[in-house]
This record gives sequence, C-alpha cells and structure tokens, in this order.
Amino acid sequence: MGFQRVTPELIRRLEQIVGTGFVSSDSESLSLNSRDETEDLCFLPEVVVRPTETAEVSRILALANEASVPVTPRGGGTGLSGGALPVYGGICLSMDRFNRILSIDHRNFQAHVEPGVTTQRFQEELEPLGLFYPPDPSSRGTCQLGGNLAECAGGPRAVKYGVTKDYVLGLEAVLPTGEVIKTGAAVLKNVTGYNLTQLLVGSEGTLAVITKIIFRLIPLPRFRQVVLVPFSSLEKATAAVAAIFQHGITPSALEFMERAAVKAAENRLGKQWPNGNAEAQLLVEVDGSHEETIARDIEQIAAVVEKFDAADVLLADDPQKVQDIWALRRSIGESVKAISAYKEEDTVVPRAHLPELVRGVKEIAQRYGITAICYGHAGDGNVHVNILKEKMDDTTWERNVDAAVREIFQLTVSLGGTISGEHGIGYSQRSYLPIALSPVELKLMREIKRTFDPNGILNPGKIFT
Ligand code: LAC
Ligand code: ZN
Repeated sequence: MGFQRVTPELIRRLEQIVGTGFVSSDSESLSLNSRDETEDLCFLPEVVVRPTETAEVSRILALANEASVPVTPRGGGTGLSGGALPVYGGICLSMDRFNRILSIDHRNFQAHVEPGVTTQRFQEELEPLGLFYPPDPSSRGTCQLGGNLAECAGGPRAVKYGVTKDYVLGLEAVLPTGEVIKTGAAVLKNVTGYNLTQLLVGSEGTLAVITKIIFRLIPLPRFRQVVLVPFSSLEKATAAVAAIFQHGITPSALEFMERAAVKAAENRLGKQWPNGNAEAQLLVEVDGSHEETIARDIEQIAAVVEKFDAADVLLADDPQKVQDIWALRRSIGESVKAISAYKEEDTVVPRAHLPELVRGVKEIAQRYGITAICYGHAGDGNVHVNILKEKMDDTTWERNVDAAVREIFQLTVSLGGTISGEHGIGYSQRSYLPIALSPVELKLMREIKRTFDPNGILNPGKIFT
C-alpha cells in the first residue's frame, strides 16, 4: 500500500493539534486499541490520538494524508467484523471525546449528537422526554453512535423500527483530505442531490470520519410485553416467524435462539432461562400506546404459534423477568464465543426463507464436522451463525471453516439474502464479498472509495481485499 510509519515528528505535530495528554504511544494504550469484539484478531496501531473538535479531526486527517500514514477511526470497539482494527498500523483515531449530546429538539423530534456518545446513554437521556431512538445492538451499553452509524447497526427492535440508517437525517463529516462536509439536513424529506448521508452510514469508516449526527426520533411506546415460546424443533420455530407477521402483527422484537445458544448464556450468567430445554425458542416483544392492543396481539401470537405445536407460551409478567430475559438474550453472542475459538457470521434472508437457511446451515456444518450455533433477529430474517472450533485441529479448522462459510453464504444469497445484515464486512468478511456482489458492483464501490480517499489512508484493509 506504500504507507509510511508514524515518526516522532508526526507525533509532535499530532500533539500540537490535540494537546500532549491526548496522544499516546505507550504499549498499554496501543494494546487497548488493537482489538475489537471480532474473533481473536489483534493489530497494533502506532499511535492513539483522541481529538474533541471537528477542526482537530480535519487537521489530523490532512496531516496523515500528506504523510501517507493510515488512520483507523474507533468508537466503542465492540464491532464484530474488525472495522476498527488498525490492520496497517498508523493512527488510531479514537472518537471517545466526541461525547456531547448537543441538543434535543423535542418539538421536532430530533437530536444533534456527537459520535462518541454511547447508544444506551443517548437512549436514556431521551426516555424521560418521551422520545425514542430504537436501534439497540446487544453492545448498547458500551458501543458508540459513530460506530453504530459506520456499521449501520441493527439489534432486536429493528424488526419494527428499522436500523440505524432509518434515523439519520444528516451528518457533519471530515474527508480523508481534511475537508469538512455537511450532508443532509434537519428535515424529514430531502432530495437535494445524491444521498451522501446514507452513503456514509454503513461505509464502515472507510469514506469519512463522522463528527456530528442529526437524528430523527419517534415517540417512546408506553407499554411493552414479552413472551417466550418454546418449540420442539428449529424448523417449527423458524416457520412460525413468518406466520406471526402474516396474521397482521408486527412485534417490536422477534428473536430466535436454539437450545445451545440458550445454554451458553445460562452457563455464563449463572441464570436459568424459562423453558431452557426446548430445542428452540422465540422471544416475542410487542409494544405500543395501548395496553389492550398489546394484550390482543399477544393472544393472537399464542394462537398462531399453537399451530406450530408450541403450547407453553410464557408471558414475562413482571419487569424483573423481562429484564432478565433480555440480559440473557443480549449475552448470547459473547457466551457462545466464550466456548471455543470461533468464526461468527451475520446471514440475512427474506424471513419466510428462515427454515431453509437454518436447515442448510446445520447440514453444511455437519458435513464439515463443525458445530454451528444459530440465534438472532428472526423477524428480520437475520441469523447469527457462530461456528465453533472446539477440539478440531488447527489445519482442518482453517480449511473447513472457510469452505463451510462459503457454502453458508452461497446458500444465503441463493435464498435472496446477503452476507451481512448488521455486523458489516470490515476486515473479517472481505474475502466473501464477491459471493454477494458482482464485479461491476465491486468496481463501482472501489471507485467511490477512491473519490473520497484518493490516497487510501482512511481505514485501509476494510471491505475490499
Ligand atoms: C446480537 C449481536 C451479536 O444479536 O448482533 O446479539
Ligand atoms: Zn445481532
């Protein structure tokens, strides 16, 4: 790539920009910023810089661009495809000091926010005002909004409310050349030129560094109910998903987990999951402004799932139970990954094809002698597949996991789906991108990247091989 190393002179100039306290190159800081939540990948940056103003980001990028030093933006470091890993070293641009909620415009249901605010903090500031920002990735306590935008994060509530991109009206961002741009506007409709806002959302920190976000908000639903539904097979559980929607119900969350996923979470948290021994379960949440409507929806859901032999619908009737169930669900990812070395996938298909996807994944895993544990946002057709190494020897694992993932992705695409719903391509899925995109589409994307980042300094080694 022809990148240059970070020199003492560059460090001195970075210190002039942000102040000496916010530039670190000690081994602990480098190590802390060398990983995210993706497998056991680790790449050390050469220096960590923590700006707090747009003008500082602009000067840092201009400097790095001139010196041909790579820059990797970083939010909460909770990504699942290696988006924040500095794979070519260089500068880690930590956005954690961009942590101000600039304004909440209650009358217009909008907020102006900096990207280093954690998702949960933002949601908690909004709640007392009766406002709702729905995207809720499992890492919401520590992930940052900037990272959520970079990966277009989803989470359980996407099924009713949509993903991150559906809430972003406009941005301020810094191009790799140091130029500052504003995209979109604080309006709900906008056809003024190309939609650069939505191009940057989901661009995985490869096109520009986001420094301000204008969000659209919605009213906070006043009531919520959660039911757990145990099934005797994965087939029945996944087939029930589309049927629930066909009966006119749009749950605010419709999560699927197989038994092994539930067991992993139980073991890790030391808590019992109701009906934990069922082969598969659906977690269904319904929300709204009227308790009676929710109760009617729950009754109807119970009637639908009965047709799939689920008799034991369990209503979580107190807030503590609801909280416990969600805590277990949100811990599944990390719990399954704690079992052994693994590879994690983020398949997504039209939801009526879920039974074929899950059946196919199991068949492929069996053929390669590996364990694949499935769970995820069934209402979105979005299944996380965690493939575990367990006792397999390293050589067989390397060979089998790649072949198995390819087959799983080919199946996903053949069902009308794609290879990532919400975790992104980042570093870990790059080699699979041609399964989902044609050469012409890939070329177009590479050209967009070149237009934004002619020297390729911003988050290199991501999305494309
Ligand atoms: C979840 C993360 C892994 O659904 O996307 O828990
Ligand atoms: Zn998920």
